[in-house]
Amino acid sequence: MAKQKFWITCLALGALGIYLFVSAPPPLEGKTAADAAIPVERMFEILKAENDVVRAMWTKEVVGAGKQIGLKFDERWREADVEAGPLPALFLRETAKSLEKNPTPLSLFLGSDYPVNSANRFEGLQLEKFQMVKQTLKPQFFFMPDIQMQVAMFSDIAVVDGCIQCHNKHEQSPKHDWKLNDVMGATTWMYPSSSVSMDELLRTLTALRQGFKDAYEAYLEKVRKFANPPAIGEHWPAEGYFLPASEVFMGEIAKRTAPQTLAALSVLASKPKSRSAMNKEGGPVVVAR
Ligand code: HEC
Repeated sequence: MAKQKFWITCLALGALGIYLFVSAPPPLEGKTAADAAIPVERMFEILKAENDVVRAMWTKEVVGAGKQIGLKFDERWREADVEAGPLPALFLRETAKSLEKNPTPLSLFLGSDYPVNSANRFEGLQLEKFQMVKQTLKPQFFFMPDIQMQVAMFSDIAVVDGCIQCHNKHEQSPKHDWKLNDVMGATTWMYPSSSVSMDELLRTLTALRQGFKDAYEAYLEKVRKFANPPAIGEHWPAEGYFLPASEVFMGEIAKRTAPQTLAALSVLASKPKSRSAMNKEGGPVVVAR
């Protein structure tokens, strides 16, 4: 139990990586059935809740507030002659790219049936399940036999006017009548096993946070090349021509996700074998919106 207290403290301090370095066993070695007692759906819900926090923070506090102070965000942000940063969907793509490089077998994808970028189009079983997400507004969990992956799909909703304005007028968009609160797409997570151990879950969560960090640092690297870059440090765009440093950005993520992630992890840790005792619909604590 002391070990559990230790990782909860590490997580609260935003230093999950430290736990993994000092005390976690190597991945998947000697994994027993009891070790892997957490249904992968519970892990997906925790990851999704963290991603929601970061997506909202990026959209409002960096992109939204940043535009007010003259920062630009564009799909061509990677090009050398464009002084801009990644749009929310591209911030997610950067996070997904970092996950691909990580040994953790988690992948993340934002798809749609009417995508601006045709590479984001759902097909086959994913398209079928996405129709269910749209109809029920509930997450879908399923297995894809062809790629041997467990999949979770969570709705991505037009929560602010900006979403529909930009997509409706985008020339590559195949749909120009998006309305507020429409399900515009779904964040799609994949993992190869149907249950995970606590160590595996924490390792995966750490990989996702590393993904957020890599995505943000890619943006800061670009910003440093601007002719007139904002000051990077303690402050946020809402306070003036500033951007938070990587530690400040990550600290804010750790702080905002801590209450829900800790609550969900504590429930899972205290009932490692209570698979059947869990609420089948939404899980014990982290309930999808
Ligand atoms: C300023 C323009 C802009 C805004 C604002 C914007 N998007 Fe997008 N969105 C894009 C572009 C461009 C892409 C394609 C990115 C790529 O190349 O993968 C995209 C991709 C997506 C995708 C993946 C499927 C697709 O269309 O390629 C979804 C889903 C999505 N956006 C939903 C949203 C939601 C929900 C919001 C609001 C919270 C939002 N977008 C805000 C421009 C925007």
